Amino acid sequence: MQVNLAQAVALLKSGGVVAIPTETVYGLAADASNEAALLQVYAIKQRPADNPLIVHIADADQVSHWAAEFPALAKKLAQAFWPGPFTLVLPAKEHVSRIVRGNQPTIALRIPNHPVALQLLKQSGLALAAPSANKFTQLSPTTAAHVTAGLGDAIAVLDGGACKVGIESTIVSVEDSDWRMLRLGMISEAAIEAVAGKPAIKNQQNLPKAPGQHVLHYSPRTPMKLFAARKDLMDFAKTSQSCAALLIGENGNNPKLPHCSFVYLPKEAAQAAEQLYSMLHTMDALNVEWLLIEAPPDAPEWVAILDRLDRAAYQ
Ligand code: TXA
Ligand code: MG
Repeated sequence: MQVNLAQAVALLKSGGVVAIPTETVYGLAADASNEAALLQVYAIKQRPADNPLIVHIADADQVSHWAAEFPALAKKLAQAFWPGPFTLVLPAKEHVSRIVRGNQPTIALRIPNHPVALQLLKQSGLALAAPSANKFTQLSPTTAAHVTAGLGDAIAVLDGGACKVGIESTIVSVEDSDWRMLRLGMISEAAIEAVAGKPAIKNQQNLPKAPGQHVLHYSPRTPMKLFAARKDLMDFAKTSQSCAALLIGENGNNPKLPHCSFVYLPKEAAQAAEQLYSMLHTMDALNVEWLLIEAPPDAPEWVAILDRLDRAAYQ
């Protein structure tokens, strides 16, 4: 059910839940200070209670309402990347609901870079807790139509167009003068290091560190396989009953098979991220036996995309 900005403001102020656009993915928003509203978000998503939500704010001045500390390093990162696809995890103030922080001692905060989301935050005067607007473990939505397809028409959706970044925000936790990558995103590790320096706790091998980030995540319903080499993908495609294959970049001599649809992701990582979930949603709707994915290049700008594909293909 589509709602306009004024209706979204009214719904959120009265403790309702509204799916809202951000530049990364659509979020399922509720007043971050209203526990009954927060519980509705967990219920609609069928999300475990120990998986905390990100609180979206309009202005960095609001950080001090939520966070017990706002270290200089975190301020530098906020200045560099807000508004934007960047989430800061900071020690939480005691009054912050256990529900929104999934019982963690910390709180996740982000200023989204989307005109509709910012207008909504300002007009409502609320901070909005918003996980991605999909059921637990399923693909994140990057259009209003994806939200309705995944959660049903009873959910109020504020349509702000297709998301430009296309995958979820980079999450970094900051404690005192050190930081840690919790979730990869389109703001790269190198970009964070350029502002914050190398982290002292270099313990990034065992990603993810964000609680509730299950290995099986961001998944289409159709079984999915990831292939390092296109040749192996093609060999598998030939033996399958029906499939849809996602290849990186058009290359002139595109493969053809009668029982397989080929879809092409742009060669530029930023454009590929923008289109990734939309393409996966489309492929998933074909009801084929397999989704086959060509792994992206082994390059820093692709690591967040590879992270999502790895999880989506995990069985
Ligand atoms: O781009 C995004 O971040 C989108 C849009 C809507 O803002 N939101 C999003 O939310 O992806 P969600 O709930 O799907 O993912 C939030 C992640 C979870 O993996 C959660 O564990 C982590 O953020 N997180 C939230 N609060 C945390 C905390 N206090 N400490 C560590 N991780 C936290
Ligand atoms: Mg999510």
